[in-house]
Amino acid sequence: MQIGPHHFSGRFFLAPLAGVSDRPFRTICREMGASFAYTEMVSAHGLLHGTAQTLSYLDRDPAEVPFAVQIFASEPEVLARGAEAAVRAGAGMIDINMACPVRKVCGSGAGAALARDPAAVGAAVAAVVAAVPGVPVTIKIRSGWEEGTVNCVEVARAAEDAGAAAVALHGRTRSQGYSGRARWELIRAVKEAVGIPVLGSGDVWTAADALRMRAETGCDAVLVARGACGNPWIFRELKAAEQGGPIPPPPTRDEWVELVMRHVALQIEHRRRQRPHQPLPAVEEQAVRELRRHLLWYSRGRRGGVAFRRGGAHVKTAADVRTLIEVQFPPGAPWELDAGWHPAQDGGDEAE
Ligand SMILES: Cc1cc2nc3c(=O)[nH]c(=O)nc-3n(C[C@H](O)[C@H](O)[C@H](O)COP(=O)(O)O)c2cc1C
Repeated sequence: MQIGPHHFSGRFFLAPLAGVSDRPFRTICREMGASFAYTEMVSAHGLLHGTAQTLSYLDRDPAEVPFAVQIFASEPEVLARGAEAAVRAGAGMIDINMACPVRKVCGSGAGAALARDPAAVGAAVAAVVAAVPGVPVTIKIRSGWEEGTVNCVEVARAAEDAGAAAVALHGRTRSQGYSGRARWELIRAVKEAVGIPVLGSGDVWTAADALRMRAETGCDAVLVARGACGNPWIFRELKAAEQGGPIPPPPTRDEWVELVMRHVALQIEHRRRQRPHQPLPAVEEQAVRELRRHLLWYSRGRRGGVAFRRGGAHVKTAADVRTLIEVQFPPGAPWELDAGWHPAQDGGDEAE
């Protein structure tokens, strides 16, 4: 699968996820088999001003090639300058967010609000394409603003005409937020309408869902979003499926512990790179606090998960996390997921 000059060995990507798809989580998902991962959305204004928060979004593993930065703003000029700044910082691919439903973002005309008008989409894409020659520019959209104004086919065509290298569609409207069903038939409709690669998104909770999305829509790649939160092993399963091998079993307790502790260590390193002069205990506490959300996700559907999550609200150090794990999930205790549990049942609560 190819986007602009970039070849991807697989068709299952980690979706852009604000507050989630940072360097540590992208590293973990790529190691598990995701062939590509976007940054979380980054303000183009922030890129222009180089704020500390924005720079933290640009932290990347040198092995992350291409490094794909997702930017948002409403004005084509700001998007163009933001894209230039991202490329100077190493981006080899720019994605424009036209899907974010958050009121503050849409209120400024960015995110999903930008995609209300196909002409505005074309202008935004054209400005960014002109600003970063040789760097593929992609967009991520929703099906439309609301049920009566589904316009993803027109928007995708406008983007293609303006030079977009791919389009990702989350098959929900802006007014749906993250609830209700994602309309996969619209992913198929967009795929049939444009010649550029189409990436599908929405309701991919399991590896079986991702494979079914590809089969039913013909999309070129699938973005795994909430289905990867707490379950980066989904990419291990998808990679095996792509290679035609047997689907690996779910993680053992020891694999799970190793990965959770690795995530903790990566998060501490990530924060340490941004705050080299701060005392390590303060950096560690911040990093571990940030990871509490992931700890919650990692423990979903597991016996002992409720107590683990209660304890997770108080952890401050990597050692605290290790102790909590050993107490709540001791070696040899039952490890299988609760019968009947499905990631969709509590995944939606986590959306912005
Ligand atoms: C916590 C969270 C953060 C998200 N952040 C972004 C973002 O920064 N940029 C973006 O384009 N989409 C973002 N999304 C949307 C996802 O990329 C994806 O399109 C959406 O969750 C639908 O897929 P799913 O139903 O399989 O989760 C976010 C979704 C969630 C749940």
